[in-house]
Amino acid sequence: MNITYLGHSALAITLNDGTNLIVDPFISGNPLVDVELDTLHPDYILLTHGHYDHIGDAVELANVNNATIVGMMELMKYMKQKGVQQTHGLNLGGGHDFDFGRIQLTPALHSSGLEEEGQLIYLGEAAGILIKADGKTIYHAGDTADFSDLALIGEQHEIDCAFLPIGDNFTMGPKEAARAAKRLQAKRVVPIHYNTFPAIKQDPEVFVAQLEAQNGYVMQIGETIEVS
Ligand code: NI
Ligand code: MN
Repeated sequence: MNITYLGHSALAITLNDGTNLIVDPFISGNPLVDVELDTLHPDYILLTHGHYDHIGDAVELANVNNATIVGMMELMKYMKQKGVQQTHGLNLGGGHDFDFGRIQLTPALHSSGLEEEGQLIYLGEAAGILIKADGKTIYHAGDTADFSDLALIGEQHEIDCAFLPIGDNFTMGPKEAARAAKRLQAKRVVPIHYNTFPAIKQDPEVFVAQLEAQNGYVMQIGETIEVS
């Protein structure tokens, strides 16, 4: 599979069979990203939680591409209300075998909701996402804090590549993310969720330098890596 970093927490993943997955597509609202939405052709859109910097362009991308959105039950109900035709709801710890591979939601220590017309809308728990396809396991941590049960995820899944937030303020910072990387025992670790806003300014190289056995790698926006 090939994984392209689209800035913030957004990834575009192309599987060997041509299936396109997009995780947390915050694209048009991200000033650091220069990618036109019509260049993206997702078959599935995976959402970690209901904050605007993760839902992003999910509704438009789903409708234009006839894509299926996958994520927490409550968030999927919200997506239906927004006119998305195809959704697949999961809950924490649960997974589903799709044609292309398996998607499983993992616990994440974070919140999930939106404000609309002065009302706060509850959108279920925040999650991390395990993607198993092409014989590989990818872990997208969402916006989680560091917590000890990340070690369970590492014990139960041999993670080839983990995407961890390092921005601080809304998620763990570089020091906590380095600790989380150790718990997860991932073969490769890529920092996400930094520098998009002033509050989450970080030097990703400082994070990578703190990693021990884990192989840290800073992806540039628009860069593609092959996980094989
Ligand atoms: Ni969030
Ligand atoms: Mn976020």
